[in-house]
Amino acid sequence: MTQPLVSPKHVVNMKMKSIPLFHAFFAGVCAAILVTQFAAADSPREHLSLDGGWKFHLGDEWPDALHLENSGTGSGPASERFADSYWRVVKLPHDWAVELPFDSAADGSHGFKALGGKYPTNSIAWYRRTFELPEKDEGKRIWLAFDGVFRDATVWVNGWCVRHHEGGYYLFREDITDVLHSGGKNTVAVRVDATKTEGWFYEGAGIYRHVWLDKTAPVAVAPDGIFVCSQFKNNVPSDKAEIKVEVNVLNTLTNGATAAVSCEIISPEGKSLEKFSGSEKLPRKSQGAVKLESKLSSPVLWSPESPKLYKLVTTISVADKMVDRQETVFAIRTVGFDPTNGFLLNGKHYELYGTCNHQDHAGVGAAIPDALQEFRVKRLKEFGCNAIRTSHNPPTPELLDACDRLGMLVMDESRLMGADSGNMNKWDDQIRRDRNHPCVAVWCIANEQFAVQDTPQAANVAHKMQDYVKQLDPLRPVTYAAPEDDVFRGINSVIEVRGWNYHYGPQMYKYHAEHPNQPNVGTEQASVVGTRGIYTNDRPRGYVAAYDIVWPGWTTTAESWWSFFADRPWLSGAFVWTGFDYRGEPTPYWWPCINSHFGILDTCGFPKDVFYYYKSWWTTNSVLHLLPHWNWPGREGEEILVQAFSNCKQVELFLNGASLGKQTMKPNSKLSWQVKYAPGTLSAKGFDDAGKVIAETKVETTGNATQIQLTPDRKTINADGEDVAVFTVSALDEQGRRVPVAQNKINFAIEGAGKIIGVGNGDPSCHEPDLFVPNVPGRSVALNDWRWQLAKVPHNGSAVPDYANDFDDSAWNALNAKTSSGELTIKTENTTAIYRAHFTLTDEDLKGSGAQICFGGCDDEGWYFLNGQFIGESHDWQAQPIFDIKKFVHAGDNVIAVGVNNVAGQGGLNPNVTVKIIGHTSIPPWSRSLFNGLAQIIVQSTRGAGAFKLTAISEGLKPVTAVMQTQPCAPRPSMPWVAESN
Ligand code: GAL
Repeated sequence: MTQPLVSPKHVVNMKMKSIPLFHAFFAGVCAAILVTQFAAADSPREHLSLDGGWKFHLGDEWPDALHLENSGTGSGPASERFADSYWRVVKLPHDWAVELPFDSAADGSHGFKALGGKYPTNSIAWYRRTFELPEKDEGKRIWLAFDGVFRDATVWVNGWCVRHHEGGYYLFREDITDVLHSGGKNTVAVRVDATKTEGWFYEGAGIYRHVWLDKTAPVAVAPDGIFVCSQFKNNVPSDKAEIKVEVNVLNTLTNGATAAVSCEIISPEGKSLEKFSGSEKLPRKSQGAVKLESKLSSPVLWSPESPKLYKLVTTISVADKMVDRQETVFAIRTVGFDPTNGFLLNGKHYELYGTCNHQDHAGVGAAIPDALQEFRVKRLKEFGCNAIRTSHNPPTPELLDACDRLGMLVMDESRLMGADSGNMNKWDDQIRRDRNHPCVAVWCIANEQFAVQDTPQAANVAHKMQDYVKQLDPLRPVTYAAPEDDVFRGINSVIEVRGWNYHYGPQMYKYHAEHPNQPNVGTEQASVVGTRGIYTNDRPRGYVAAYDIVWPGWTTTAESWWSFFADRPWLSGAFVWTGFDYRGEPTPYWWPCINSHFGILDTCGFPKDVFYYYKSWWTTNSVLHLLPHWNWPGREGEEILVQAFSNCKQVELFLNGASLGKQTMKPNSKLSWQVKYAPGTLSAKGFDDAGKVIAETKVETTGNATQIQLTPDRKTINADGEDVAVFTVSALDEQGRRVPVAQNKINFAIEGAGKIIGVGNGDPSCHEPDLFVPNVPGRSVALNDWRWQLAKVPHNGSAVPDYANDFDDSAWNALNAKTSSGELTIKTENTTAIYRAHFTLTDEDLKGSGAQICFGGCDDEGWYFLNGQFIGESHDWQAQPIFDIKKFVHAGDNVIAVGVNNVAGQGGLNPNVTVKIIGHTSIPPWSRSLFNGLAQIIVQSTRGAGAFKLTAISEGLKPVTAVMQTQPCAPRPSMPWVAESN
């Protein structure tokens, strides 16, 4: 049947009308089910990953996708009907910034990536994801939760705009039940705008943390609704721990319900220890808290050295039927700060050997898989680091999980300071989400608020944020990272724990004497710079000598800050800027340098020499490390600075067996020699107090590189499509010694149950790609300039001269489908017409794996010709015809011609015609150069159990293949996507 053809705006509205109607009906049915058949909705919760199966498109050809005039009318990719088959498939976490090229004209503090205001086509992207909601889920509440999107996200579900969220570091979630299709396909579309930045460091772009779909009964634990903490008298652990639990229960029903809450504590060994319960009457559509208490005898305490975890199992029942069950990991320990004894863990002074870190790793950028979080925490622990400051933003939840498990304290920092409702809501979300984690030892309300920090207004805001912590999480202290010396105004005058960013020294005594009741902590110290394996400053290449001797004006060396803090326990220890190098803030040099040099580890986690300085004074192991390497051809006879980082009482240095003298180590310092270079072996012996040799080390002049070595961080990984193995790539000489100066370019190939997700080498000036994505991106070409003419059209695929490429249509009616959509109209019934338009393709487009032409509609019948050849026909005025055209197109000018037959009322061709070029699905070969002997390659498992084979090849070097077996395991519960989407 033919209806009058209307403008696309109306077509959209008309077509969407059926959905709200359906939903009104559906919602009504649901309400009835909820009220009368409560039992049907009482299944326990499901927490399902939505990480797989996202379609991704870089660029925003649909700036008007957000329709504010009517609900459910999102257009372009926001619409359910949008065809995204030409988009790339990505798996979350995903950071598209890391895929972009470097550009010296780009923002250096963000790592010179072609992103931001100057690069509009690189700075907005779209993601789409489908899922089927089984009918059996009717009556449940369905929540969509994003752990973090950088940065400005608009989310549509089935064309309904359900959320707009700014702020790249905070979680956001929405109950999307009302707009879902039960028993049908559902579509989530997310427009992400990373044009604006928040920090002054690399921040990534895209959905770089996990996305979840949570299904709950209508009466269930509220999001992040469980809080469990242990308490002791005077905050000092004793025989009995008081366990306090608060369970927030949400009743979404239109009638009241009584929620019975039961809790069980499970010991670190898995034994049931205590059970306790309570209940709460919840009025219709309400939330209520159930507060419970218990006691635990002889509790096992958590610490970084012994991270013992308990579990709280909470169940909710209504009318004797279990409707929710959640497990919460927690631990028993106390934290606090004392003005005299500094930081206290379990009632005793505990020195914070901390590092500040951004969320950024070689290869993957901000999109750090969970297993890589764990890898990073382990690298930090190797040199004695026991605390992380999540500078300058709320962390990824899985980082906190790794810190709980592995034993790492955390200073949990907000992104912005503010007492406005928007900021306080985010602060509320952050505290509720993170407060069960035993690793979180202190909240940090903000960093270096230069513009306002000394004002009374900032004092008000800081006070409000701090006070809010005390309401939600009374046992944790609060600090502020203050870049000031002896200043007690504004924030410093109200903050519980005084934070010190730099500015260490005698002014601290004065401050401490004048404010004897305020505890102190070094929130940010050091900021010494050094490039791994580099021993002279090299401005043109952007490298800095790694001897702990170069620091920007506002900072100092590792040795000087640490010697000061080490002797003053009341300072609590501090957080070094930084544990890992990160993209952006290329200090002290700018381009070609694209990342920072502050790290104790480089961007891959390879240790720099200063790693051994900290290891010497932050661990109890015997450490003896010599620097530099001993490959200096052409410098024979020249004096070279040699240092020993060690905690031995004395160190003796030898060159080719001849002693160069024994020196005594002052605590917290390092030793230096000037040595005339001769190739061979530089070695050292470390002695204890009694003069006994307790450590030996050597560096040797190696030969040229002859072979490649691949060394994984683990023997096996789980075949769950999430786990990762991190391979160190190095070059060895004939004798199997690592060549510290090798810079060979290495090519990688992988087969079997693994895929490469990133490569790096820690070189702060390397502009090689960190990851390799399909090299011909998809793109779409809108066809706006049409001509048309009433003409006789055969009702089949037979050609007429008007369809031919060289047909002269210049005298036909011109139409601009973009500006005047209603014009593509045949106003008379029973009339046929021909429409023609041109589009241009490039050679690059033809390299793509496909091309499609998509029509907004054809009323009532159409016969379609491309470059004079018949490509298909349509006979349904409501359909949106799509044709594969790869084999009909060529580089240069192409002509589309459509014969249209209108049967009744108005008819014609709808606008919104787009040619979509499908990019390459094949990925170019992975490669990376070694930087001073090392590179890193990150491999993620697929879900297929078995083995993967990683091969590394380089011209002139013996290749190597590493085989890793992956372990069958249950994958993370997830929501499958609709594979045949569009
Ligand atoms: C600090 C700042 C950090 C980083 C560091 C570099 O002042 O808090 O984010 O910029 O300087 O030294």
